[in-house]
Amino acid sequence: MLAHKSDNRIVVGPSEPVEPEERGLNSYTLTVLFTAIMGGLVFGLDIGTTAVLSMDYFRTAMEIPIMQPGAEDSIDVTNQLSLFAVLFHVSSLVGAPFAGQISDKYGRKLVIIIAATLFLAGAVWQSCAGLISQDFAWASILLGRVVGGFGNGFILTIMPVYASELSPAKYRGQTVTFFQLSITAGIFIMALANNFLDEFVWGWRLAFVLQAFPCALILILALVVLPESPRYLLLVDKEESARVALNKLAKGCPNQTAIVDAEVSAAMEEIERIKSVEEGTFLDLFRGEGYAPFLCGFMVALSQNVTGVNWFMNYATTIFDSLGYNKFAMDLVLKSLNMVATIAAIFVVEKGGRKFLTVWGTLSVIVIFSLVALVIVATGVDVFSTTGDSQTSSVQLFTMIMIFIFQIVFAISWGPLGWIVPGEVFPMRLRGKGMAMCVVANMLTNIALGDYGFQALKVATSLQFTVFILVVMNVVIVLTTVVFLQPETKGVSLEDMRHVFAYERGGSEQRGTMSQFFKKNWIQTLRILSFRGNDPKTEILLMENENIVSSI
Ligand code: BGC
Repeated sequence: MLAHKSDNRIVVGPSEPVEPEERGLNSYTLTVLFTAIMGGLVFGLDIGTTAVLSMDYFRTAMEIPIMQPGAEDSIDVTNQLSLFAVLFHVSSLVGAPFAGQISDKYGRKLVIIIAATLFLAGAVWQSCAGLISQDFAWASILLGRVVGGFGNGFILTIMPVYASELSPAKYRGQTVTFFQLSITAGIFIMALANNFLDEFVWGWRLAFVLQAFPCALILILALVVLPESPRYLLLVDKEESARVALNKLAKGCPNQTAIVDAEVSAAMEEIERIKSVEEGTFLDLFRGEGYAPFLCGFMVALSQNVTGVNWFMNYATTIFDSLGYNKFAMDLVLKSLNMVATIAAIFVVEKGGRKFLTVWGTLSVIVIFSLVALVIVATGVDVFSTTGDSQTSSVQLFTMIMIFIFQIVFAISWGPLGWIVPGEVFPMRLRGKGMAMCVVANMLTNIALGDYGFQALKVATSLQFTVFILVVMNVVIVLTTVVFLQPETKGVSLEDMRHVFAYERGGSEQRGTMSQFFKKNWIQTLRILSFRGNDPKTEILLMENENIVSSI
């Protein structure tokens, strides 16, 4: 039997590729990953903070008319309040590309420090709004939104990348799922806290203080504990420092030296390749090796919110209220389901496969909304009616249960995968910039659907119509993305990802054409639908194994 050492793999015989042991989790690695995961908590807490807009004490402090029971805000007030979320998201969208540029050029750690500082400054500034002069209270809040939003763009760009690069390969999907779990935890914590904070004059200030805590912790840990990403260190010729960091991350493994050597040599192989080409620019995402991962990452990030999730995250209280249920209680149920189901995702994300989960997740979402639309049309009831008969009540109950089921499906599929896929598909030289563009996509759909979409539809139409729009958007945008643009990436190391995305416009000697890329993804979809799995990792190993054998 022939045994060869090929980069970080031992190849035994022609058809038996064997992976060497990988890093495990020690307390240092756990601290590092914990810090990255906390980035999600910060974002989630901010999503939940939007509820301060309905607090009486906040409105009094901002000189905004208080909401009267049963009445709606005037258009002017609605427009004024919408700036709160929109400015934050626009600022995140603008900040993300800067984070991408800085992280590829000056390292991941610096971006984490800037991110936490900006978010912290924004949160503290907002919590103090109006203390010095009441006249500038609202302006202060908006300025805080801009500063904090910039930090948020930095956090969302860097944390999934940093977590992907520092996590042991076999836990990469789970680590980024924890990132999503902490987003959902942040949303849930705020939903709980808001009910309580609502009662106090300074309640809304405390809501912002709550955001500041995890941020301060990230900053302290970044300054004291976090290592620079070893992959980045190797890229800038700092092999010794990379080895020091990797040794800490691999400490306690029985074959520590071999593991560190294997990680260094795998990364170096990609770095050698990178060095023969120029430094990556944002334009490189639209050509050559950057294009296929960009299409995949960008569209997956965009599709996450196109599923319709933020119509329920942001407006569940309005919807449940209109449906005739206790809005706060049901909103809490929805948000706890979101969090608990994300815990389930941790167990399935590595086993099930990325594409497997998005394909089945999307089909389930389409079925869920189609059923709601069908029942509404078939019964002809007005689901928002408050004086309905028993048939109306049944349809309302059915709609609410379907919204809950949607949330569970989202949490197991699109929630984590909307971050995992963008964080892992880009080649090293474009990783920061690629992820930044994915954050731009996420923020665009957050603004279009979360901040404005539901409001606009609610004014113009009814829930009935909204459900139809959701079905169409999911079929046209989300389904197309998962079927044609997303290949299975389960178990593939970051260095090997280039084999999965070895396609470019027009094709070349080493790369297939884009139509071959779409076709491969389509075939993988068919395999998923017929319950035959896709195993890209073994495919790559066998491919390389064959090369080695043929060269013997
Ligand atoms: C999405 C948010 C969404 C949240 C819900 C996140 O991954 O980016 O838009 O509100 O999940 O859990």
